[in-house]
Amino acid sequence: MWSMCALLLPFGLVLVVAERNAREQRLFGWFDGNYGDRYNPEKFDSRTYDYIVVGAGAAGLVVANRLTSNEDITVLLLEAGGEPTLSSDIPLLAAALQFTRLNWGYFMEKQENLCQGLVDERMPWPRGRGLGGSSLINFMLMIRGNKHDYVRWNASGNPGWSYEEVLPFFIKSESATIENADDGYHGTDGPVDVVNLPHNLEVVNVFVKACEESGYQYVDYNGENQMGVSRMQSSLTNGRRCSAEKAYFRPARYRSNLYTCLNARVSKVLIRDEVAYGVEYISNNVKYVAYASGEVILSAGTYHSPQILMLSGIGPQDHLTEHDIPLIKNLPVGEKLYDHLAFIGLSFTVNEPIVELFSNILSLKSFWDFTVYGAGPLTVAGIVHALAFMKTSAANYTENYPDMELLFIGGGLQTDYGLIHKRMFGISQKVYDAFWGRIESKYSFSVYPMLLHPKSYGKLKLKSNDPREGPLLYGNFLTDPDQQDLRAIIAAVREVQRISKSPAFRAYDTRQVTYPILGCEDFVYDSDHYWECAIRSISVTLHHQVSTCKMGPETDPESVVDSQFRVHGIENLRVIDTSIIPVTPSGHTNAIAFMIGEKGAHLLLQAYNSFQ
Ligand SMILES: Cc1cc2nc3c(=O)[nH]c(=O)nc-3n(C[C@H](O)[C@H](O)[C@H](O)COP(=O)(O)OP(=O)(O)OC[C@H]3O[C@@H](n4cnc5c(N)ncnc54)[C@H](O)[C@@H]3O)c2cc1C
Ligand SMILES: *[C@@H]1O[C@H](CO)[C@@H](O)[C@H](O)[C@H]1NC(C)=O
Ligand SMILES: *[C@@H]1O[C@H](CO)[C@@H](O)[C@H](O)[C@H]1NC(C)=O
Repeated sequence: MWSMCALLLPFGLVLVVAERNAREQRLFGWFDGNYGDRYNPEKFDSRTYDYIVVGAGAAGLVVANRLTSNEDITVLLLEAGGEPTLSSDIPLLAAALQFTRLNWGYFMEKQENLCQGLVDERMPWPRGRGLGGSSLINFMLMIRGNKHDYVRWNASGNPGWSYEEVLPFFIKSESATIENADDGYHGTDGPVDVVNLPHNLEVVNVFVKACEESGYQYVDYNGENQMGVSRMQSSLTNGRRCSAEKAYFRPARYRSNLYTCLNARVSKVLIRDEVAYGVEYISNNVKYVAYASGEVILSAGTYHSPQILMLSGIGPQDHLTEHDIPLIKNLPVGEKLYDHLAFIGLSFTVNEPIVELFSNILSLKSFWDFTVYGAGPLTVAGIVHALAFMKTSAANYTENYPDMELLFIGGGLQTDYGLIHKRMFGISQKVYDAFWGRIESKYSFSVYPMLLHPKSYGKLKLKSNDPREGPLLYGNFLTDPDQQDLRAIIAAVREVQRISKSPAFRAYDTRQVTYPILGCEDFVYDSDHYWECAIRSISVTLHHQVSTCKMGPETDPESVVDSQFRVHGIENLRVIDTSIIPVTPSGHTNAIAFMIGEKGAHLLLQAYNSFQ
């Protein structure tokens, strides 16, 4: 154990140096035109721009880039965080970034009979802060969702959101070089690099083969047919993280019409006679204002866009009254919050070292492969190697549509001896010791089933009317009265068990780790009641919170923005980020954030040009 700690020391040093390095970029600021003013909030005070983009995250940076590709358009980009760090380049370190200033560091509010296995019984709900937003700390999995998601999105009163209509924006955003790509589904000259993981682990081949033996097709899950198994498609450039900052911001940052202000937290949108005309922002505890002659775009993400709306007087009337905020428009901001719950308690041992091992990650070869070839274990975030999309026996619909994603992890929380990934998920030491601690010396892998279309949903509330405070986040998981959500996860557990018994896995004497999850010892092992206990105790989020500013027609009492991102009843104000996603997606949300940014920018430019 101590030798492992000693080995980790270089990692720690890299992190510290990277942190420093990022801050020192300020020294060179004055070479960079407008960009050199990025820590000078006064420079932008009381000035007027065509557009103000609030939040430099995955969607916001797409908007800022595409708008300023027209030289006549001026854009002020306001971001609460700072620059990316060097360490954010190394995919394997993604989990560790959650302990840095790149994470807002929120937790879900306590929920009864959930998270008993987590520290303080609370689930970490991280969010990225800084140029790149959550794409700066995420796991780089690129998944667009299922075609049927967009049938649902369009059918819920949102014209323009059918699969055929969003596909061009997915294609526009990417430069894909993946094996097995389906024709007509991928872009080759967009800003975001999408590749198959440049790391081949034998256990991944076994997993793919086992799935095929169990009836799964090998698919391009971003192509014609999502249902099946696949190696991962990741946003990587030469094995390094390809964040929104790299893809969309770097190529645009020196443009003379793009003004960037970091360390600036927007506290409210200025609205007069139901027209937005600017924003108020706080930097180093000083308040400033900036004006938009065109539009204000909120791209502050799924937690902060709704918070800013409410602080500006747009939200549920009673809730705003409770916090002494004068009402401008009564809208159900924050009243719906869908998320994807994943169960992390399925681990299996094999009899040969075909899995990811700490000694392989921290080897000279691994550093060499990464530095020289952009390959090897350091290119894998969260140790996630492959995916399968499936419909469980609990699903009660007829469409060929997944209700579960299986994330295949070539190791587990024990791979780093509980140093990082355990903490990232907030698993308590006792719970770790009773399960993962006991397999530290074994060869083992894990499968995390993730529920795609939960019936239960949570909500977001203001903690106070102080813009420097975070919102209150409620997950409300597994609370649907039919217990459909729970049954689907248990059905997925059974499916994973079935796959683990296929010949490909048998050849390695694959066995499930059957140490009971701490607190669930009293249930008969492997009974549905046992799994319910385990699922409630150690489920986690994979960070796909959506719907807090739900898109829908004005006739939809749950909706906040219309199909063109415009806040109902307010002019010149749009929300363009993942908070508008109205339906649960069959995938993760980063690729969707890029698509949303592309579509949003397209609509903005269309509106701009029609006025010229
Ligand atoms: C730890 C983690 C892992 C993830 N892994 C994956 C994955 O592997 N694959 C995947 O597809 N998705 C993943 N996701 C989800 C995905 O990254 C996000 O859904 C997506 O990036 C969100 O994009 P966005 O534009 O809506 O918001 P964000 O990218 O979160 O951007 C919002 C930005 O606004 C800024 N901001 C907030 N408030 C203010 C304010 N008041 N003033 C100024 N600026 C403000 C924030 O600092 C941030 O930079 C992950 C998310 C997290 C947190
Ligand atoms: C999208 O929805 C509209 C109704 O809002 C419908 O008329 C149209 O046919 C749908 N488009 C597709 C491709 O399903
Ligand atoms: C099946 O789905 C419908 C619609 O979502 C739901 O109302 C119903 O309760 C479900 N039935 C079962 C047995 O879960």
